[in-house]
Amino acid sequence: MSGTEDLVLEDVSRQYDMQGGGVHCALSRLNLRVSPGEFVALLGPSGCGKTTALNCIAGLTDISAGSIHVAGRRIDRLTPDKRNVGVVFQNYALFPHMSILDNVAFGLRMRGMPRAQRHAKAMEAIRLVQLEQHAHKHPAQLSGGQQQRVAIARAIVVEPDIVLMDEPLSNLDAKLRIEMRSEIRRLHERVRRITIYVTHDQDEALSMADKIVVLQNGVAHQIGTPQELFSLPRDLDVARFMGYRTLLRGSVRPADGEDRIEVEVGPGCTLLARRVGAGLEGRAVVAIRPDEIRLADGESHNVLGGEVRSAEYYGRESLVVLDTPAGTLYARLPGRFTIGSRLRVHVPAERALGYPELAS
Ligand SMILES: Nc1ncnc2c1ncn2[C@@H]1O[C@H](COP(=O)(O)OP(=O)(O)O)[C@@H](O)[C@H]1O
Ligand SMILES: [Mg+2]
Repeated sequence: MSGTEDLVLEDVSRQYDMQGGGVHCALSRLNLRVSPGEFVALLGPSGCGKTTALNCIAGLTDISAGSIHVAGRRIDRLTPDKRNVGVVFQNYALFPHMSILDNVAFGLRMRGMPRAQRHAKAMEAIRLVQLEQHAHKHPAQLSGGQQQRVAIARAIVVEPDIVLMDEPLSNLDAKLRIEMRSEIRRLHERVRRITIYVTHDQDEALSMADKIVVLQNGVAHQIGTPQELFSLPRDLDVARFMGYRTLLRGSVRPADGEDRIEVEVGPGCTLLARRVGAGLEGRAVVAIRPDEIRLADGESHNVLGGEVRSAEYYGRESLVVLDTPAGTLYARLPGRFTIGSRLRVHVPAERALGYPELAS
């Protein structure tokens, strides 16, 4: 099995009428181009429009504007069964009274495939998700993780152009969730279908996807590779969502070089930061990830001193909350720290990102 189709969303919007008048834009002008075999994560907080986007592709929701094409064929006016997509839902949605084999073979039965043939094909998909010993059991006899694998087998058995998954791991416990990430990615390598994977978990998106779409309030703020999103979020909203927890505000002074700024984040305290985006005059926010802050070791610039407000010890390292004159710092530092002790930390200028201060 191997997918050869591409998926193109052009200006796809979905509005809902609100009670008492007006409309709510759950998805606003989404533009997305997915190559054959690509794994794309739709990432964003609850209510940002992820499920809406997925349902628009699946045909479970009508789009209000725009178009969706697969391999050059427009699909957004087709009924779901004509779109050749396989969907995996958060709650598995298996038929409880059917065996695993019949669950997986169900889509093939709907397509009129003869019994022997559909059972052979379903067994092949069941083997792919490593459940061959369980083929004749019923869903209730399987664990949550196994049931979700059945749901995945059921989605891929029909050889869809696109596999759509809506937070498929969120009902599983933490350990299994991490195991299933590589399991799903392994399956993806085998079947190479376009996969659109909805999640609110940035680690999941970073570890699984070839490309990530960060959605907020129905708008795609950034589309890029995991590395791009992790190292250079385009705006402050994306940065916050990607775990840039420390946000220090201050006034901007031009610095040497186009891509650097100096931000006065506290009395007598300036940080050299990387300029992200245009229009950075006046006020700026410097955003820093906890793992980019180090204990100072003789550096002459970008050093901040402060007092430990709290520290969570994780064995190898601690997550330290540090009160400084510039504001609160969140740092992941090696060792164990006592509340009230004083620390000096350093932030490399290339890992301190300067954004225009938002009006909000
Ligand atoms: N059928 C509906 N009618 C009205 N509003 C809806 C409907 N479905 C979703 N919404 C709204 O659209 C927004 C996006 O929802 P959704 O796509 O489910 O978000 P997510 O999956 O990212 O949590 C939310 O504000 C939600 O309340
Ligand atoms: Mg959802």
